[in-house]
Amino acid sequence: MRKKIVAGNWKMNLNQEEGHKLTSEIVHMFEDENLKDVILVLNPPFVHLQGVKKLIGETKGIFLGAQNCSDKASGAFTGEISASMLASFGSTYVIIGHSERREYFKETNALLTAKTKQALENGLIPIFCCGEPLEIREAGTQDAYVTAQLSESLFGLSPEEFGKIVIAYEPIWAIGTGKTASSDQAQDMHAAIRKHLGSHFGEELAQQTPILYGGSCNPGNAPDIFSKNDVDGGLIGGASLKSRDFVDIAKSF
Ligand code: PGA
Repeated sequence: MRKKIVAGNWKMNLNQEEGHKLTSEIVHMFEDENLKDVILVLNPPFVHLQGVKKLIGETKGIFLGAQNCSDKASGAFTGEISASMLASFGSTYVIIGHSERREYFKETNALLTAKTKQALENGLIPIFCCGEPLEIREAGTQDAYVTAQLSESLFGLSPEEFGKIVIAYEPIWAIGTGKTASSDQAQDMHAAIRKHLGSHFGEELAQQTPILYGGSCNPGNAPDIFSKNDVDGGLIGGASLKSRDFVDIAKSF
């Protein structure tokens, strides 16, 4: 059975007090409402890592993640944060290749390979993002576009390395727009991704790889999307900033 994962991507939101309040609420709801068989990952901005980790404490089933890491191990790279630092502050996961990083910070497939390797070398689980822009979806070439993102960044990894990775499919036209992919569109793409991974890494590994959906996921649409065979959870932006919504999404399987 593949892991079921609901990961919150806070992006550049929430000050210290707000971040602490959100985390405490999520931890309490998770415990009080006895959520089982689902892993929650909180991915706050870097400055929150230590505080959020402390509030998660020993709660089983909730993990800390970051939104990005450097492609370098260490050195004179002002403003950057390394994967080893993230690990030392208690992160388990790290989001790599979010479309906002690809678009606004010009992160290329090659750079994302280097980041993925840094993450893996330091024992972090990459949540590797892929997804097509609107014009590609309108042209009907989304499968080729997304599978190329994956092969170009990840197919140089060994099967052992790849076996640690979580994939997040996030159609760019659905991120923060309130316009979600239909559950059938999500399923079709997740199945295409799994098939593509299987063609290179083998069927068994492809079947074990969690593939999350992201893009305007909310408690209303999550049950339908999560009911699909190849959808193993979600990467949640806006709705992860509201404790009730985030936990309700996690209850949607
Ligand atoms: P959204 O963001 O849920 O606000 O659409 C998802 C994401 O960017 O990870």
